[in-house]
Amino acid sequence: MKFLALIAALSTFAVGVSATAIPSTPFVCENEKVLSTYTIGKNNEVEAQVVSCSNLPGLASRSVAQKRQTNVCGNTCNTNCFTPSGGGPNPYDCQVISDALLYDNQNIGTLFNITVGTPIYMQYASCETFFVNQATYNETYCRNDWSSVVEYVAFNCQSQQNAHGGNCVASDQSWFIQVQAT
Ligand SMILES: *[C@@H]1O[C@H](CO)[C@@H](O)[C@H](O)[C@H]1NC(C)=O
Ligand SMILES: *[C@@H]1O[C@H](CO)[C@@H](O)[C@H](O)[C@H]1NC(C)=O
Repeated sequence: MKFLALIAALSTFAVGVSATAIPSTPFVCENEKVLSTYTIGKNNEVEAQVVSCSNLPGLASRSVAQKRQTNVCGNTCNTNCFTPSGGGPNPYDCQVISDALLYDNQNIGTLFNITVGTPIYMQYASCETFFVNQATYNETYCRNDWSSVVEYVAFNCQSQQNAHGGNCVASDQSWFIQVQAT
Protein backbone atom coordinates (compact mmCIF):
# COMPACT_ATOMS: atom_id res chain seq x y z
CA MET A 1 0.00 0.00 0.00
CA LYS A 2 1.54 3.21 -1.20
CA PHE A 3 -0.86 5.78 0.17
CA LEU A 4 -0.20 5.39 3.88
CA ALA A 5 1.37 8.76 4.53
CA LEU A 6 -1.40 10.05 6.72
CA ILE A 7 -1.25 13.76 7.38
CA ALA A 8 -3.89 14.48 9.97
CA ALA A 9 -2.69 17.84 11.24
CA LEU A 10 -3.88 19.88 8.32
CA SER A 11 -3.12 23.28 9.76
CA THR A 12 0.53 22.34 10.24
CA PHE A 13 0.67 20.66 6.86
CA ALA A 14 -0.76 23.61 4.98
CA VAL A 15 2.00 25.97 6.15
CA GLY A 16 4.70 24.09 4.27
CA VAL A 17 2.85 23.62 1.03
CA SER A 18 0.64 26.69 0.74
CA ALA A 19 2.25 27.66 -2.56
CA THR A 20 1.17 24.43 -4.24
CA ALA A 21 -2.24 23.30 -5.37
CA ILE A 22 -2.76 20.48 -2.89
CA PRO A 23 -6.48 20.36 -2.16
CA SER A 24 -6.22 19.84 1.60
CA THR A 25 -9.71 21.24 1.97
CA PRO A 26 -12.69 19.50 0.41
CA PHE A 27 -13.07 20.02 -3.32
CA VAL A 28 -16.56 21.11 -4.39
CA CYS A 29 -17.55 20.74 -8.03
CA GLU A 30 -19.02 24.05 -9.23
CA ASN A 31 -21.77 24.25 -11.86
CA GLU A 32 -21.82 20.48 -11.96
CA LYS A 33 -23.21 18.92 -15.13
CA VAL A 34 -23.88 15.19 -15.23
CA LEU A 35 -22.50 13.77 -18.47
CA SER A 36 -23.37 10.12 -17.85
CA THR A 37 -24.79 7.92 -15.10
CA TYR A 38 -24.30 4.21 -14.47
CA THR A 39 -24.12 1.71 -11.63
CA ILE A 40 -21.36 -0.57 -10.43
CA GLY A 41 -21.10 -3.62 -8.19
CA LYS A 42 -22.61 -7.10 -8.16
CA ASN A 43 -26.14 -5.79 -7.49
CA ASN A 44 -25.67 -2.39 -9.15
CA GLU A 45 -25.73 -0.98 -5.63
CA VAL A 46 -23.34 1.92 -6.24
CA GLU A 47 -24.33 4.91 -8.36
CA ALA A 48 -21.64 6.39 -10.57
CA GLN A 49 -21.58 9.60 -12.58
CA VAL A 50 -19.18 11.32 -14.91
CA VAL A 51 -19.57 15.05 -14.36
CA SER A 52 -18.04 18.29 -15.55
CA CYS A 53 -17.11 21.09 -13.16
CA SER A 54 -16.50 24.74 -14.04
CA ASN A 55 -13.72 25.06 -11.46
CA LEU A 56 -11.45 22.59 -13.23
CA PRO A 57 -9.52 23.59 -16.33
CA GLY A 58 -11.57 22.56 -19.36
CA LEU A 59 -10.48 20.61 -22.37
CA ALA A 60 -10.21 23.78 -24.44
CA SER A 61 -7.55 25.24 -22.17
CA ARG A 62 -5.40 22.11 -22.25
CA SER A 63 -2.39 21.89 -24.44
CA VAL A 64 -2.80 19.54 -27.37
CA ALA A 65 0.90 18.86 -27.16
CA GLN A 66 0.40 16.75 -24.01
CA LYS A 67 0.61 13.00 -23.86
CA ARG A 68 -2.75 11.61 -24.93
CA GLN A 69 -3.24 9.00 -22.21
CA THR A 70 -1.16 8.38 -19.10
CA ASN A 71 -1.43 5.37 -16.81
CA VAL A 72 -1.26 6.56 -13.20
CA CYS A 73 -2.02 3.18 -11.61
CA GLY A 74 0.01 2.53 -8.51
CA ASN A 75 1.14 6.15 -8.13
CA THR A 76 1.84 7.20 -4.57
CA CYS A 77 -0.72 9.49 -2.98
CA ASN A 78 -0.76 11.29 0.35
CA THR A 79 -3.79 11.24 2.61
CA ASN A 80 -5.21 14.47 4.07
CA CYS A 81 -8.05 14.25 6.55
CA PHE A 82 -10.63 17.04 6.59
CA THR A 83 -11.03 18.58 10.05
CA PRO A 84 -12.98 18.80 12.30
CA SER A 85 -14.81 15.67 13.35
CA GLY A 86 -18.53 15.31 12.72
CA GLY A 87 -20.55 14.76 9.58
CA GLY A 88 -18.27 12.23 7.93
CA PRO A 89 -19.43 9.22 5.94
CA ASN A 90 -20.17 5.86 7.56
CA PRO A 91 -17.00 3.95 6.64
CA TYR A 92 -19.03 0.77 6.15
CA ASP A 93 -20.99 2.56 3.40
CA CYS A 94 -17.65 3.47 1.83
CA GLN A 95 -16.68 -0.19 2.09
CA VAL A 96 -19.66 -1.06 -0.15
CA ILE A 97 -18.17 1.23 -2.82
CA SER A 98 -14.76 -0.31 -2.25
CA ASP A 99 -16.19 -3.82 -2.70
CA ALA A 100 -18.14 -2.77 -5.80
CA LEU A 101 -14.93 -1.44 -7.35
CA LEU A 102 -13.25 -4.78 -6.63
CA TYR A 103 -16.21 -6.62 -8.17
CA ASP A 104 -15.93 -4.51 -11.33
CA ASN A 105 -12.16 -4.98 -11.28
CA GLN A 106 -12.71 -8.73 -11.57
CA ASN A 107 -15.75 -8.71 -13.85
CA ILE A 108 -15.39 -5.68 -16.12
CA GLY A 109 -11.74 -4.71 -16.21
CA THR A 110 -8.83 -3.53 -14.14
CA LEU A 111 -8.53 -0.10 -15.79
CA PHE A 112 -10.70 2.92 -16.45
CA ASN A 113 -10.07 6.28 -18.11
CA ILE A 114 -10.55 9.74 -16.63
CA THR A 115 -10.75 12.45 -19.24
CA VAL A 116 -9.38 15.87 -18.35
CA GLY A 117 -11.97 18.12 -16.69
CA THR A 118 -14.54 15.40 -15.94
CA PRO A 119 -14.32 13.77 -12.48
CA ILE A 120 -15.97 10.40 -11.81
CA TYR A 121 -18.28 10.27 -8.77
CA MET A 122 -19.50 7.20 -6.90
CA GLN A 123 -22.06 7.08 -4.11
CA TYR A 124 -23.58 4.54 -1.74
CA ALA A 125 -25.82 5.61 1.15
CA SER A 126 -23.84 8.11 3.30
CA CYS A 127 -20.57 7.77 1.37
CA GLU A 128 -19.39 9.57 -1.72
CA THR A 129 -16.05 9.30 -3.46
CA PHE A 130 -14.73 10.89 -6.60
CA PHE A 131 -11.61 10.85 -8.74
CA VAL A 132 -10.37 14.19 -10.12
CA ASN A 133 -7.88 14.31 -12.97
CA GLN A 134 -5.90 17.53 -12.38
CA ALA A 135 -3.47 16.95 -15.22
CA THR A 136 -3.40 18.32 -18.74
CA TYR A 137 -3.67 14.79 -20.15
CA ASN A 138 -6.18 11.97 -19.92
CA GLU A 139 -5.40 9.44 -17.24
CA THR A 140 -5.92 5.72 -16.80
CA TYR A 141 -6.32 4.38 -13.28
CA CYS A 142 -6.92 0.98 -11.62
CA ARG A 143 -10.19 0.01 -9.99
CA ASN A 144 -8.39 -1.95 -7.27
CA ASP A 145 -6.27 1.10 -6.34
CA TRP A 146 -9.36 3.32 -6.05
CA SER A 147 -10.94 0.60 -3.93
CA SER A 148 -7.95 0.58 -1.57
CA VAL A 149 -7.82 4.37 -1.28
CA VAL A 150 -11.55 4.63 -0.51
CA GLU A 151 -11.24 2.02 2.21
CA TYR A 152 -8.13 3.59 3.68
CA VAL A 153 -9.36 7.18 3.77
CA ALA A 154 -12.83 6.17 5.01
CA PHE A 155 -11.51 4.25 8.00
CA ASN A 156 -8.61 6.58 8.82
CA CYS A 157 -10.27 9.99 8.53
CA GLN A 158 -12.98 9.45 11.14
CA SER A 159 -13.99 11.36 14.24
CA GLN A 160 -11.23 9.58 16.20
CA GLN A 161 -8.81 11.46 13.93
CA ASN A 162 -10.82 14.70 14.37
CA ALA A 163 -11.91 14.28 10.76
CA HIS A 164 -14.91 13.88 8.51
CA GLY A 165 -13.47 12.22 5.43
CA GLY A 166 -10.46 13.26 3.42
CA ASN A 167 -8.56 12.89 0.21
CA CYS A 168 -5.48 11.23 -1.21
CA VAL A 169 -3.43 13.48 -3.49
CA ALA A 170 -0.98 12.06 -6.01
CA SER A 171 2.59 13.01 -5.17
CA ASP A 172 2.88 14.82 -8.50
CA GLN A 173 -0.54 16.49 -7.98
CA SER A 174 -1.85 15.04 -11.23
CA TRP A 175 -4.94 13.54 -9.55
CA PHE A 176 -6.70 13.09 -6.23
CA ILE A 177 -9.41 10.91 -4.76
CA GLN A 178 -11.84 12.41 -2.25
CA VAL A 179 -14.01 10.54 0.28
CA GLN A 180 -16.80 12.43 2.05
CA ALA A 181 -20.40 12.30 3.22
CA THR A 182 -23.06 12.66 0.56
C1 LIG B 1 -9.07 12.62 -23.83
O1 LIG B 1 -10.03 11.66 -24.15
C2 LIG B 1 -11.14 12.19 -24.82
C3 LIG B 1 -12.16 11.09 -24.95
O2 LIG B 1 -11.58 9.92 -25.43
C4 LIG B 1 -10.68 12.75 -26.17
O3 LIG B 1 -11.77 13.30 -26.85
C5 LIG B 1 -9.64 13.84 -25.91
O4 LIG B 1 -9.09 14.27 -27.15
C6 LIG B 1 -8.51 13.32 -25.05
N1 LIG B 1 -7.68 14.44 -24.63
C7 LIG B 1 -6.36 14.42 -24.66
C8 LIG B 1 -5.67 15.64 -24.14
O5 LIG B 1 -5.72 13.45 -25.08
C1 LIG C 1 -8.65 4.52 -22.50
O1 LIG C 1 -8.42 5.41 -23.58
C2 LIG C 1 -7.52 4.88 -24.52
C3 LIG C 1 -7.23 6.00 -25.53
O2 LIG C 1 -8.43 6.54 -26.02
C4 LIG C 1 -8.13 3.65 -25.16
O3 LIG C 1 -7.24 3.09 -26.10
C5 LIG C 1 -8.41 2.62 -24.08
O4 LIG C 1 -9.08 1.51 -24.62
C6 LIG C 1 -9.26 3.22 -22.97
N1 LIG C 1 -9.29 2.28 -21.85
C7 LIG C 1 -10.40 1.97 -21.22
C8 LIG C 1 -10.25 1.01 -20.09
O5 LIG C 1 -11.49 2.46 -21.50
